[in-house]
Amino acid sequence: MSVDLPDQITPDAVADYLVASLGDDPAGRKLLDANATAKLPNIYVDPMLGRLLMILAKSIGATHILEIGTLGGYSTLWLARALPAGGQIVTLEVDARHAAVARDNLDRALSGNGPSIDIRLGPALAALTAMVESATTSDALFDMVFIDADKRNNAAYVDHALRLSRSGALIIVDNMVRAGDLVGGDDPQSAGCRAVLDQFANDPRLDMTVMQTTGAKGWDGLMIARVR
Ligand code: SAH
Ligand code: DHB
Ligand code: MG
Repeated sequence: MSVDLPDQITPDAVADYLVASLGDDPAGRKLLDANATAKLPNIYVDPMLGRLLMILAKSIGATHILEIGTLGGYSTLWLARALPAGGQIVTLEVDARHAAVARDNLDRALSGNGPSIDIRLGPALAALTAMVESATTSDALFDMVFIDADKRNNAAYVDHALRLSRSGALIIVDNMVRAGDLVGGDDPQSAGCRAVLDQFANDPRLDMTVMQTTGAKGWDGLMIARVR
């Protein structure tokens, strides 16, 4: 099915064209409608990034995924779509209302057929510290970690992700560029993104890249790292 070409030739118009070309996603659309009704902020991953997360998770045969920053569960849904029966997602969220909306959304979207999704309510750093302390066997190690919460703590999140990941795991950080704030911002969020590069760009435990993106959510970027 071919999609009408846009009148304008801009990154936004191309983003709309690409999303339309890849076809409707009724479950994803319903989830985003529920987020809007609940007045959650419109800061979830765009559908192209959601698909990328799904493709990456499938590519490495992921069965255990850790997410930091659940919001309404839209990125969680894309990750869930990558997992086989018996798969598991642990997703960390500090806001009780976000967690409740996500629980409803994911139960409705997956209607009991998806992987187990454990939404842990509370500050992510406390949850991660507890997980590192209790991670005694390789069973507990994740295949993929998606970091998308408070950016000021990004370097601490990557540090914990490294301890909780198997060799070959992917560690992905959303919103690394934030319209150039990566190099121009003097806020704690920007400092948190720079700290990821300062501390981990040349860390012998991983290989990393940062891809700049444009489209539905503006100018941003994504760190993708593979644990050696
Ligand atoms: N991954 C989601 C979007 C997450 S938005 C998606 O793409 O659909 C960021 C989320 O991180 C918000 O819900 C916010 O409440 C949560 N958050 C912020 N600080 C946090 C913290 N310290 N611990 C856990 N979650 C946090
Ligand atoms: C914000 C957070 C996000 O995770 C995102 O993808 C976009 C914006 C924010 O806090 O503004
Ligand atoms: Mg984000």
